[in-house]
Amino acid sequence: MASPASTQTCGSANPESPAPPDASKLKITHSKTPKPLQPVETLRFGQTFSDHMIVANYDPETGWSAPEIKPHGPITLDPSCSCFQYGGNVFEGMKAYLGPDGKARLFRPDLNMRRLERSCARLALPPIDGDAVLELIQRLVDLERRWIPKESGYSLYLRPTVIATKPGLGVMASDHAMLYILAMPTGPFYRVLKPVALFAVSENVRAWPGGTGGHKIAGNYSPGFLPQQTAAEKGYDHILWLFGDDRRITEAGAMNFFVVVKRDDGDGEFQFDMFDMYHLLSVEGLDLITAPLDGTILPGVTRASCLALAGDPEFQKESSLRLHPQEMVYTMSDLEKWSSEGKFLEALALGTSVIIIPCNKIGYEGKDIVLPGAGLGPVGTALRKKILDIQEGRTEWKGWGVVCP
Ligand SMILES: Cc1ncc(COP(=O)(O)O)c(C=O)c1O
Repeated sequence: MASPASTQTCGSANPESPAPPDASKLKITHSKTPKPLQPVETLRFGQTFSDHMIVANYDPETGWSAPEIKPHGPITLDPSCSCFQYGGNVFEGMKAYLGPDGKARLFRPDLNMRRLERSCARLALPPIDGDAVLELIQRLVDLERRWIPKESGYSLYLRPTVIATKPGLGVMASDHAMLYILAMPTGPFYRVLKPVALFAVSENVRAWPGGTGGHKIAGNYSPGFLPQQTAAEKGYDHILWLFGDDRRITEAGAMNFFVVVKRDDGDGEFQFDMFDMYHLLSVEGLDLITAPLDGTILPGVTRASCLALAGDPEFQKESSLRLHPQEMVYTMSDLEKWSSEGKFLEALALGTSVIIIPCNKIGYEGKDIVLPGAGLGPVGTALRKKILDIQEGRTEWKGWGVVCP
C-alpha cells in the first residue's frame, strides 16, 4: 500500500535509536594536504570534493560509533556487504549557502533529515536519528567553510549517505550500517537557464504504488539510466515519468514536476514581448498543479516549499500572483487538452540541484507539446527568486534558512 501523504512529510521513523551518532563525541583528523580551491567556473557537479568527510558505523551491539571527521578518501568494505549485493543504500542531497552576512545556511534541513529517517526505515536499515545527523552536517559545514563559494547560485552540496554493511551473503536486512557525509562545492546545474525538453515515457516506470519511489533510495535511480539515454538520443534532456493506463504525470528525471494552468474561473490573460517571454496582464486564476504524494512521488523539499509559497498570502502579495496550489492526479490527456485550449502556461522541474527550471517541450507519442515562452514564466521566476533569496540568506522566511553555528 502506498503511504498516505501525511506520513511522508513529518515524524521520526525511528524514535528509539539505541545510540544515535553523537556529535559531542566527534573525533577530528585534519587533512595534512588541504587542496587549493579551484575557480568556480571550472566546478563540475560531483567532481570536486572538499578536504574532509564524516564517517560513523553502526553495530547492533553498541549502536552508532563516535563519528569521525577525516580526510575525504576511499572506504574499505568487504565485497560481500549487503549494500553491494542487495542495494542497501539511501542518501540525501542538500546545500549550504553563504549569506551576505558571511553565515552559512542550510535550507529546511529538517525535511531532509526526516526523509533520511524514513528512507532508512523503508530499507530496514539500522535506526538513525536525523537531528543527530544534522548536527554532524553543521559541524562539517563549519569545518569546510572555505569551500562554500561566495558567488550567487553556488553552494556546498552535501551528500549524507547510509549504506548496509552487514558482511556475508543472505537476503535479509542488514544490522550493520555506515553513515558517511560528503561535501562538494557546486555551481548552478545549468549555467544558462535555458528551457529543457522532456520525453514522456510510459513503457518504463520510475515508481509504483507500494514501491520505494517516495523514498530517496539508490535503487530508484539506476533503472532510469537506460530510458534517459534513449531520451537523450532522441534529443530530449530528461524523462517525464508517466504511470498507469491513464498516463498520469509523476516526475521529471530526478526532479518534481509542476504545471501552471490558467483557471476556468480566472482572468489570467498573458501576452508575449519581443523576446518571446510572456507576461501576465492580470493576476487572478492560475493553478499550480503537481502530483499528490501517493508513494510514487519523492516528497521534495523544493516541491513542499513551492506549494507552501504559492498558497501564502504574503508571497502572493509580493509576487502579484494569485496562485492556487493543487496536489492532484493529472494526465497526458489533461496536458494535451490544456495546451490545445491555450491554458497550459508553464511547465517546471524542481529540486535542490536545479531549484526551478523551465520545460518548453514535452515529447509524447511522436508529437511535441510546445510551451509558450522562451524561459521561466512569471510563476517560475517568482518562486525561483524567492527560494534563492531565502537559501542565500537575503530574506528571512519562516525559519527556512538554518544557520550553521
Ligand atoms: C526522484 C526525485 N524527485 C524529486 C527530487 C527533488 O527533491 P528535493 O527538492 O528535496 O531536492 C529529487 C532530488 O532529491 C529526486 O531524486
